[in-house]
Amino acid sequence: MAAAIKNVTVIGGGLMGSGIAQVAAQTGHRVTVVEVNENAIEKAKNGIQNSLQRVAKKLYKDKPADAETFVKETLSRLHTSLDLKDAVKDTDLVVEAIVENLDLKHKLFSTIDSVAPNHTIFASNTSSLSIQDIASVTKRKDRFGGLHFFNPVPVMKLLEVIRIPETSDETYEKMTAWGKALGKTTITCKDTPGFVVNRLLVPLLAEAVRMLERGDATARDIDTAMKLGASHPMGPFELADYVGNDTTKFILDGWHQKYPDVELFKPIPLLTKLVEEGKLGLKTGEGFYKYDKGTK
Ligand code: NAI
Repeated sequence: MAAAIKNVTVIGGGLMGSGIAQVAAQTGHRVTVVEVNENAIEKAKNGIQNSLQRVAKKLYKDKPADAETFVKETLSRLHTSLDLKDAVKDTDLVVEAIVENLDLKHKLFSTIDSVAPNHTIFASNTSSLSIQDIASVTKRKDRFGGLHFFNPVPVMKLLEVIRIPETSDETYEKMTAWGKALGKTTITCKDTPGFVVNRLLVPLLAEAVRMLERGDATARDIDTAMKLGASHPMGPFELADYVGNDTTKFILDGWHQKYPDVELFKPIPLLTKLVEEGKLGLKTGEGFYKYDKGTK
């Protein structure tokens, strides 16, 4: 059995990277988070500390001393860096969680490919890009895969482990074992657009918008239907507003560009209009629904 992953480098300390780093540190790994400037590092650190306090309160309800020890010990395993090359020189696994842009991801992976140790596994947390496309700039495709987490990472139980044809069994097994060590339930998926969850969810949102556009039913009725008729915890429009209409459009546009013949991925005028009007959902106070200011 190959040596387990102990040292982890998370590149990008935004929404997802912070969560991944936190959970990895909580479960005993030594973690380095790489960011682009001091501001971003501060933001990531604060976010992780606040989230850790919440986790500690839950885990150690009536034991404040234990809660404090837990936070302290977790933080002692967490490091930050602005020096990308230095941050990967002694790592077992790199998890990339930078912005969803293929050129930037290429630049990043080609930079670290020549400096990371030979055994280091590279993984991307991309939601909508192809792992094969991202891996194409490296010389370690056998040590490359996807580790797709869900937001918020400390809460969501699922981890999608993505294999490209070149991913070796050893790499796949190490990635899966690491996911389990983080307390996640792992599933395996090929490198297909959206993997499992987003490949089913994004077209569901798209079809719901198309229904609304045709006037088949109101947004409220479609949401009620899916909650009461299919036991979904949120209706498609509630979910679209939560995810952000810009994000849904961005994912659909990327897939449409790559697979122009797939009907489900084609642009939807109503979604385009909402995005153009700045009605992105919960984060802007209006999407398919209106929200009180300060909801988020
Ligand atoms: P975010 O915008 O919150 O964070 C991205 C972070 O990366 C920023 O803090 C930025 O400063 C940093 N960054 C950018 N370029 C960098 C570089 N060259 N080196 C180091 N840091 C760099 O984005 P978010 O939402 O965390 O998404 C990150 C990735 O995770 C994307 O690929 C996205 O598709 C994926 N993802 C997002 C999910 C979500 O619900 N937001 C869910 C699952 C995956």
